[in-house]
Amino acid sequence: MAHGAPMQSPAPQPLARPLSPPIVIAHRGASGLRPEHTLAAYTLAIDQGADFIEPDLVLTKDNVFVARHENDITGTTNVATHPEFAARRTTKLIDGESHTGWFTEDFTLAELKTLRAVERLPKLRPDNVQYDGQFEVPTLAEVIALAKRHSVGGRVVGIYPETKHPTYFASIGHPMEALLIAQLKAAGWSKPTDPVFIQSFEVDNLKRLHGMTGLRLIQLMDASGGPADRATPSYAAMVTPAGLKTVASYAYGIGPGLAMIQNGDAAPTTLVADAHAAGLRLHPWTFRAENVFLPKSLQNGVDLATHGKIEEAMRRYLALGIDGFFTDFPGIGVKVRDAVKENR
Ligand code: G3P
Ligand code: CA
Repeated sequence: MAHGAPMQSPAPQPLARPLSPPIVIAHRGASGLRPEHTLAAYTLAIDQGADFIEPDLVLTKDNVFVARHENDITGTTNVATHPEFAARRTTKLIDGESHTGWFTEDFTLAELKTLRAVERLPKLRPDNVQYDGQFEVPTLAEVIALAKRHSVGGRVVGIYPETKHPTYFASIGHPMEALLIAQLKAAGWSKPTDPVFIQSFEVDNLKRLHGMTGLRLIQLMDASGGPADRATPSYAAMVTPAGLKTVASYAYGIGPGLAMIQNGDAAPTTLVADAHAAGLRLHPWTFRAENVFLPKSLQNGVDLATHGKIEEAMRRYLALGIDGFFTDFPGIGVKVRDAVKENR
């Protein structure tokens, strides 16, 4: 391994508490209504009652965590309109895929702060385009400060950071784990009871984190493929009873794609019961309101951007026993979750 703290022998994370109300995780903020991963998107999510705000994390040249879904900032900032950065456009191989654009690791934080966020999905979310050019790329420190500022009067706003491309970042001299744990510890967060979940699609990175912190860890997985650092076993192997038992040795829960629990209108899988049997919680991703993201039976007409019955989608999965969920529309998520909670 090229990086990080020594591996420790995994001990099981504390078992999930029984039947706490499902949590609502604002996916990249209220990203259905504001450009993703901006303080405006996170603030709206908090105003709408989200329990957790989700920053995906990448590193700058000077090793500062910033909130972006990927280190390629071409599609979510106005970097292409900055002539002073034109020469930094380049092509890189990241997790086996070729990407051409501008990358956070080639910018200092001060340089990144001269850019502004733009809407990733302008065709699906045309109302968000009015905010293009208004908001900065936030740092993790700013996201933490925002959550803490709103954790008042008995309310706790948590953060749900995801390490993006940790193996790639380590390969270019920016290992993430120790830096992240130190920053969270400095914020007062190191225990399973603290309002933080750390998530990753990779495996070794979570295992290293398990040896470094008591914070709850979430193994992300998708309906196809496998982790960038361990393509085998695939995610499919991870959801066998044996695979889930292994995940439970280093993680508190799993973050499966919705299709792994119920693929569209097909019958549900046994993943919720299987994961619970292994002592794991489930926080699937991602509920989005637009037709294109919904099962056929919950769509409203044929226009891809029109909103369908996202509430019904959330209710379906809550009825299957999930313990929380990611959504681009946390306001809707909170309303549905609260109604379901009342009826339990
Ligand atoms: O982290 C949960 C979900 O966000 C995973 O997908 O690609 O949106 O980070 P992604
Ligand atoms: Ca994420």
